[in-house]
Amino acid sequence: MKVSAVVFIDGLVSLTLQKPSEISQNKIYSMEVLASIVAEAVVAIGRPLFGSVYSMIKSTVKFRSYLDFLEKKKKSLMDLRENVKTEMESAEREGKVLSTQVIEWLNEVEKLLIEVNQFQEVKLSRHSVNSRKRYRISREVEGQLKRIEWLLKSGSSHIGVVAVNYSVPRAVEHIPGPSIQDETTASKTLAKTVTLLSDPEVRRIGIWGMGGIGKTTLVRNLNNKLNGTSMQPFGIVIWATVSKNLDIKKVQTQIAERLNLEARKGESIERLAGRIYQRLEIEENFLLILDDVWEKIDLDSLGIPLPEVHTGCKIMLTSRSRDVCRDMMTDEDVKVDVLNDEEGLQLFIRNAGKVVSLENIRPFAEAIARECCGLPLAIITMGTAMRGKTMVKLWKHALNELQRSVPCTGGVEDRLFKPLKWSYDSLEGKNIKPCFLYCSLFPEDFSIEIGELVRYWLAEGLIDEHENSEYSVNRGIALIENLKDSCLLEDGAREGTVKMHDVVRDVAIWIASSAEDGHKSLVRSGIGLNRISAIELSNSLKRVSFMNNKITRLPDCVIECAEASTLLLQGNLPLDRIPERFLQGFEALRVLNISGSRIQSLPLSLLQLGDLRALLLRDCFYLEELPPLEGLSRLQVLDLTATRIRELPRGMENLCNLRQLNLSRTHYLETIQAGIISRLSFLEILDMTLSGYHLSVKEAVEKELTCFEELGCLERLRILSIRLKRIPYLSSEDLSWINRLRRYQFFIGPTANSLPTRHDKRRVTISSLNLSEGGGIDRLLSNASSLVLSHCWGLNEMLEDLVITCAGCFASLKSLTIAGSNSSLRPAGGCAAHFDLLPNLEELHLQDLTYLESISELVGYLGLRFTKINRSDSMFPNEISSLLWLLHLRPAKPRSSQSKLL
Ligand SMILES: *[C@@H]1O[C@H](CO)[C@@H](O)[C@H](O)[C@H]1NC(C)=O
Ligand SMILES: *[C@@H]1O[C@H](CO)[C@@H](O)[C@H](O)[C@H]1NC(C)=O
Ligand SMILES: *[C@@H]1O[C@H](CO)[C@@H](O)[C@H](O)[C@H]1NC(C)=O
Ligand SMILES: *[C@@H]1O[C@H](CO)[C@@H](O)[C@H](O)[C@H]1NC(C)=O
Ligand SMILES: *[C@@H]1O[C@H](CO)[C@@H](O)[C@H](O)[C@H]1NC(C)=O
Ligand SMILES: *[C@@H]1O[C@H](CO)[C@@H](O)[C@H](O)[C@H]1NC(C)=O
Ligand SMILES: *[C@@H]1O[C@H](CO)[C@@H](O)[C@H](O)[C@H]1NC(C)=O
Ligand SMILES: *[C@@H]1O[C@H](CO)[C@@H](O)[C@H](O)[C@H]1NC(C)=O
Repeated sequence: MKVSAVVFIDGLVSLTLQKPSEISQNKIYSMEVLASIVAEAVVAIGRPLFGSVYSMIKSTVKFRSYLDFLEKKKKSLMDLRENVKTEMESAEREGKVLSTQVIEWLNEVEKLLIEVNQFQEVKLSRHSVNSRKRYRISREVEGQLKRIEWLLKSGSSHIGVVAVNYSVPRAVEHIPGPSIQDETTASKTLAKTVTLLSDPEVRRIGIWGMGGIGKTTLVRNLNNKLNGTSMQPFGIVIWATVSKNLDIKKVQTQIAERLNLEARKGESIERLAGRIYQRLEIEENFLLILDDVWEKIDLDSLGIPLPEVHTGCKIMLTSRSRDVCRDMMTDEDVKVDVLNDEEGLQLFIRNAGKVVSLENIRPFAEAIARECCGLPLAIITMGTAMRGKTMVKLWKHALNELQRSVPCTGGVEDRLFKPLKWSYDSLEGKNIKPCFLYCSLFPEDFSIEIGELVRYWLAEGLIDEHENSEYSVNRGIALIENLKDSCLLEDGAREGTVKMHDVVRDVAIWIASSAEDGHKSLVRSGIGLNRISAIELSNSLKRVSFMNNKITRLPDCVIECAEASTLLLQGNLPLDRIPERFLQGFEALRVLNISGSRIQSLPLSLLQLGDLRALLLRDCFYLEELPPLEGLSRLQVLDLTATRIRELPRGMENLCNLRQLNLSRTHYLETIQAGIISRLSFLEILDMTLSGYHLSVKEAVEKELTCFEELGCLERLRILSIRLKRIPYLSSEDLSWINRLRRYQFFIGPTANSLPTRHDKRRVTISSLNLSEGGGIDRLLSNASSLVLSHCWGLNEMLEDLVITCAGCFASLKSLTIAGSNSSLRPAGGCAAHFDLLPNLEELHLQDLTYLESISELVGYLGLRFTKINRSDSMFPNEISSLLWLLHLRPAKPRSSQSKLL
């Protein structure tokens, strides 16, 4: 698809476009862009400003009225929220898609209201407020007021335009996976299911059979078959994966997403059910596929109109147990049968390859395929494990192993257990087995981020440390590929993720729970636990996972887990405290992830974890303080993203092995003492995107704060994202360290609109600054691939300057954005570049330029020839302000590359 020009109205939404199909892909892009502006603006405005009107107020009287004012504004905001919500609900009922901005706005409002309420409760309940405190409170109130004002303003523009309706969900979504066309038994079953589906008498269909037999594959194929036929009767086919631990909300969320209903934070199951019901009621015909059902599900509580009432509704479910089908009152059940011997052998051969045709191996292959009892999962993994093995001895051994009796594995069918265990046993390569077992720590049916997995393996020492961490990461990725080739891992739901088949995971958990070789694990992830049972923890455990539960508190006692190297506690939203004594039992920890909890601090016993490599506290929104870290000298990864810290933890400077420091979205970070960062000599990644801390150049730093030049000491630094107060004038030394960086982002100026572009690898964003003042911009841009100038002035003077002095200084620039500028863009004396100032430009965004009358004039000044842009003969408008023109004329690239910041 080639898009030539796309128009977005600044105030947003409800657009009528001639070619909606072409726009839809770009819609994603624009919405992201705009959402990031929204988020950014909130952040920028939320930071208290010294010397502003509000902070002047000091007298008690004013203080009181000030609080009243806050209360009043809060009420207005709540009223507006209700209005917007009402509108959203009616739009959703009509099947419209809510605009991202509105949702974003609503989230911001909810967040802010929670904050304001908490603030009022905590801070204002104390009676004796002295004047210093009052001043501090004033500052906070001021920040909140500003945000409220802003939300009121931006919110009122949403009234009447909460929805966009050009993206109706596809009737059927293709689901990738193996095709079953040539397996005769399976394709017969598929045909039978299709027939049932078209029978008006049959409303509920059950597909049942043991784990690993290919129920999901069957239903996927059915789904994709419907996608391929234009004659299929359903207005929409909805797929939801249920899994062992029934979580109604999770199932609802999948359904809601498919219907383009926005999940709302904190919404009850009942309300969401109501919205789903209303939405589905208007569908004439729909099919709901519930995959992997383990117990009866109440359709009412999901919000699904009963097939008996809504005649266009059909339900299909897969389950291991026929009883479940009966409980769900299916009209017809289809049993998925095992493959017959011949089919089994064929499938085996497809996976094991040509070796099978060798005369002395063929009989073993047949026997092994038979031992797999016609179970596709077993045959595939077994076949893959034997691929390319030519020694007869190996085949004989495999067969013997399969024929041996197996231990009682509780849950996993013996018939599956043996082949899967065999493919596990035949994994070859250093540490590949523990790496595989590690994957079972995540919840069932969970898509694991590859980057995350590799970080854990590195921290655990399962992948060797290498000088060059890129090399280590590649080793990890190779391991993952190896596991995928062995059919022990599969692609996850999103790009860059992997997951485990649930049967494979069961086997892995079994192996890991009984492992004697020091890789024993306790896996209790994603099962809705409220508390940890201390009895389960023991000294022999190597890895412990309680991730994604609802744990409210941890035992406040020492439980000896002296061997444990990984403790995963992330995703326990209610968890608000880590007891001092709890951590004392885990002295050998290398990985500790507590991300996404409500903790406000960490206990001092953290300091005893001298082996810790990765301390992960991302999205602990309430975390204000960490204990001094000097004891953790082995620490390599510290993730403090979106925490509430105001300064770096004490003792940071001693973390001489730290490689990755993520401080993005630390909006409250105010100070970084000079001399700390420069001592982190191993640092490779420093991410301070949207942090509250802005760096200055050396001459301009206040007090003892860290300055921009200090970063030059970090010889290993490869990825950097920071905010700067002003445009730095770069010396040659600065240039040399900046040129060493593989990626960078500099956000310069008081605000930081982070509109993603396609060339953000080396990007400079300048906002709300007078560009005619500082020189130095040419040096700064000598290697940048993307430049954003947002709400700057003095553009004209800068252009004049550059046109005269700057030959080839923008040679690397591929993307240029100029947004929200008051300046005229008409260099005095009509001077124009005699050469193409931006010879490699591929993307030009001009947004909201009051005085831009003609794009071609600007193009003339810059001498642009657009040799790298495919310009179509599209309209260049005159006198359209408040319009965003995106002129990216190359074929659209996948979305992921656009939204990635670093
Ligand atoms: C939006 O939906 C309404 C009906 O709900 C329809 O009349 C209108 O044409 C649609 N607009 C676009 C741009 O598709
Ligand atoms: C099925 O759906 C996908 C997108 O979900 C689409 O790309 C594909 O063209 C559709 N049709 C067929 C026959 O696969
Ligand atoms: C820690 O857990 C969070 C939440 O699940 C996750 O996003 C993050 O990637 C984890 N950290 C690492 C280093 O894997
Ligand atoms: C830092 O954390 C943020 C938020 O989770 C993530 O998007 C970003 O990629 C991380 N930075 C690096 C360099 O990994
Ligand atoms: C920008 O800086 C130039 C040069 O210092 C100055 O003449 C001009 O008045 C400034 N513009 C604004 C709007 O402050
Ligand atoms: C940056 O520019 C210098 C010359 O100015 C060049 O040698 C170097 O390769 C560039 N670095 C990158 C990453 O493009
Ligand atoms: C832009 O112009 C408007 C009115 O002319 C003015 O209020 C505003 O401050 C200007 N903004 C900048 C960045 O100069
Ligand atoms: C421009 O378009 C032509 C044909 O449409 C294509 O061959 C060429 O690669 C494009 N150039 C760029 C820079 O995208």
